Amino acid sequence: MDKIVIRGGKKLKGEVVISGSKNSTLPILFASLLTDESVTITNVPSLADIDTTIEFLNFIGKKTLKKGNVVKTYSSCRYKHVAPYDLVRKMRASVLIMGPLLARLKKVDVSLPGGCTIGARPIDIHLDVFKKLGAEISVEGGYVKISAEKGLKGTAINFKFPSVGATENALLCSVLAKGKTTIINAAEEPEIEDLANVLNKMGAKVVVSGTKKITIEGVDKLHGFIHEVIPDRIEAATYMIAAAITKGEVTLKKVVPKHLKAVSDKLRKCGMSIKETKDTITAKWVKTLKPQNIKTEVYPGFPTDVQAQWMALMCLVKGKSKITENIFENRFMHVAELQRFGADIVTDGKTVNVNGIEKLSGAPVMVSDLRAGAALVLAGLATEGNTVVSRIYHLDRGYDMLEKKLKKIGANIKRAHS
Ligand code: UD1
Repeated sequence: MDKIVIRGGKKLKGEVVISGSKNSTLPILFASLLTDESVTITNVPSLADIDTTIEFLNFIGKKTLKKGNVVKTYSSCRYKHVAPYDLVRKMRASVLIMGPLLARLKKVDVSLPGGCTIGARPIDIHLDVFKKLGAEISVEGGYVKISAEKGLKGTAINFKFPSVGATENALLCSVLAKGKTTIINAAEEPEIEDLANVLNKMGAKVVVSGTKKITIEGVDKLHGFIHEVIPDRIEAATYMIAAAITKGEVTLKKVVPKHLKAVSDKLRKCGMSIKETKDTITAKWVKTLKPQNIKTEVYPGFPTDVQAQWMALMCLVKGKSKITENIFENRFMHVAELQRFGADIVTDGKTVNVNGIEKLSGAPVMVSDLRAGAALVLAGLATEGNTVVSRIYHLDRGYDMLEKKLKKIGANIKRAHS
């Protein structure tokens, strides 16, 4: 299995071009099922999760090809309505197959995704959407079977929590439902706005209010589209933290600074210089950093997908800080691995108390999930000595050309095959 080997202690300096957003591309790929016309998606990152989704679409019956950073889907033949375990288990976002297939075929059977290392991750909010829109749901043999023989009918849906995936599934089926659907307490992450823009290009009538209310006026038919995916704000945040943790200076190109406001604000409070233009951010270490507490929240709050990377930074900023995880129930798998570097951290329920110290020492560590992996790489970059990161297939799910981009800004990092 591949490993990443880092010889840390170098200040990172230079420019990084940020790739398209993984979490935006995935629902947009599933949206292609809503039309029989061809679709072109540009700025698509090269990641394992994207390949998995393309494989999934081809299996369902939608011919889909990726060449470089462009994905094209072709006018479809007939779709299958069953999504088997082998495809669903690889990626949780596979549940986004439910919305479009239910809208198009009036029935879909999807193998239950199960939990993962960051928590049980139920799909009750997704299923509630389908029920409210008039579908019947049963669970048989590990499959959730959803059917709406008489079609879907728009309605008012009030989410108990603004789930990103459930909001996407709600959009992906209500656009073809009869009448008006209103989602109250909807997620309004930038990736939701990107999906809404795509659906509107297809001829849907979606209005994202900016007040956690989304309205959808159902239409009969949707068209093909051409769309450039928004930049990956989580990848961008990771490189900003790489500048901070190595006392360097990194300019991110092709970003949307407002999507990163929560992270930029916290880095400024730590003492980093953060300068923005319309589509770049320069993060520069100018003085000794001060610790900052964070608590993860839905957008526009501090993203849970940057919590682990922030923890790595706080481990090396002298003084005490608190990190509270409010989105996922078990997203501290990186704590034990950061401790292997010598980090002084103690978990207390959904909060981690960090006592930042000046130096860590390189260590062999193991990745438990995507963003935990990013935290371990960051710690390795800032630590003198050798760090060997194993189980890096998690990183390949979400970081496009990680070693190449880090090498370009001065990191001593390589992939070893064993
Ligand atoms: C998406 C992102 C993920 C990010 C997360 C939160 C993708 C592919 N993934 O995941 O990177 O960390 O948003 O910003 O876009 N929940 C329920 N019932 C449900 C659905 C969710 O209880 O039916 C809970 C989850 O267990 C979790 C919380 O709600 O504790 C947030 O989940 P959700 O917003 O749905 O995240 P995902 O869409 O899975």
